[in-house]
Amino acid sequence: MTQLETYIAENENRFLEDLKGWLRIPSISTLPEHAADIRRAAEYAADQLRHIGFERVDVISTQGHPLVYGEWLKAPGKPTLLIYGHYDVQPVDPVNLWESPPFEPTIRGENLYCRGAADDKGQTMLVFKALEALMAVSGTLPVNVKVLIEGEEEAGGESVERYVKTYPERLKCDSAFICDTHMPARDIPALISGLRGMIYTEVEVRGAKRDLHSGSYGGVAPNPLHALALIIAGLKDAEGHIHIPGLYDKLRKPTPEEKAFWNEDPLHMNESLLEEMGVSQFTGEAEYPPLERIWARPTLEVHGIIGGFVGEGAKTVIPAVGKAKISMRLPADLKSKEVFPLFERRVKELAPPGVEVSVRNLHGGEGVLISPDSPPIRAAAAALKETFGKDPVFIREGGSIPIAALFYEVLNVPVVLMGFGLPDDNLHSPNEKYSLSQFFKGIRTVVSFLQKLG
Ligand code: BES
Ligand code: MN
Ligand code: MN
Repeated sequence: MTQLETYIAENENRFLEDLKGWLRIPSISTLPEHAADIRRAAEYAADQLRHIGFERVDVISTQGHPLVYGEWLKAPGKPTLLIYGHYDVQPVDPVNLWESPPFEPTIRGENLYCRGAADDKGQTMLVFKALEALMAVSGTLPVNVKVLIEGEEEAGGESVERYVKTYPERLKCDSAFICDTHMPARDIPALISGLRGMIYTEVEVRGAKRDLHSGSYGGVAPNPLHALALIIAGLKDAEGHIHIPGLYDKLRKPTPEEKAFWNEDPLHMNESLLEEMGVSQFTGEAEYPPLERIWARPTLEVHGIIGGFVGEGAKTVIPAVGKAKISMRLPADLKSKEVFPLFERRVKELAPPGVEVSVRNLHGGEGVLISPDSPPIRAAAAALKETFGKDPVFIREGGSIPIAALFYEVLNVPVVLMGFGLPDDNLHSPNEKYSLSQFFKGIRTVVSFLQKLG
């Protein structure tokens, strides 16, 4: 065993304890009552960086949740790597479906269960532990490192966006690394070559000035919930086509290689997708293969409809107001700022007479496509091959990590999207988990990645 391997093996338990301590802090960024937890989670990350031996560590206050910035720049002549992660997590409801309390890290079998175990505390912690191991064994790092950790990723990431745009020279680097993605399976290491962007909206429909008796007024009163149903049905049809004029105009055709991969599905991802969802067939645009639908086509989804009477029993009322949360995923060609006005115009056009509609853009972010051909990506690929015994596949991901596009565009550097999550990690769902073996393999992979970069 090398000294590094010995260090990692001897410290496995403490690495896990450090992760568990972070996981116990319920840093839910979208719920105002967790503001203090958010700050504690940021301080926890800062302490980790200090413990590694970073020269400079700041918890930066913002208009939203704090950012954590750390740097170690004592490798003159070596490239500088910017590492990003997020310490905020999604809400935990429905809490009754959790097999162990959502913020009590619990090991069952080979997995650590907790909100944030995979997304993204587990994956960020494994990067910290790779840095710690390198520093502890050699007293130095193979490259210069800047670390930027945010607490608003799940809430749209406004503060980090402002920070990156305001201080690009502070974040100047040669490449960026984000550990917040998946591999298709335990034995198939992957690098992500594309992410979708998104817009997240709230559509509010107002009818009468108050809730109305549905007998006295039914037949003449506007019904905001029915109006919402019409709007939603008009936005996307049963075949999965989105009816927003102009939406598809700028979408470029994929390369023949990508199209072939999506059609042939050599990794049998379609099968796993059905299994993960527990359904027997795919929905959506039948003329596109499922992988293209989730990786490279725009989508429109309703997340929730609020309004009217939802209590026990019956109440004959026509609600005065209804709201729907609707988001769209946008392949990199489609820009959120261009799509939102198209969406808004179409929603208003679809509204039936008698109601008033307002559309709010809650947050958004851009997608990104990454060339697999750059020195840092080659270093990551070689590191994955070393620890997993196989060349990684280059795949896209349907989810969004808005900071990736920002690094790409503002800092103008290659972005390595290398994560160790598994498809059944239950991100954003009850019983989120992280595989312990992926955690430790991740540490060794990142160690090797940094060495190859240096
Ligand atoms: N880590 C995820 C993105 C992701 C999802 C990567 C699935 C790989 C597989 C990230 O934390 C996330 O959830 N992003 C949000 C972004 C949004 C709130 C702007 C998303 O995709 O919904
Ligand atoms: Mn994440
Ligand atoms: Mn997430």
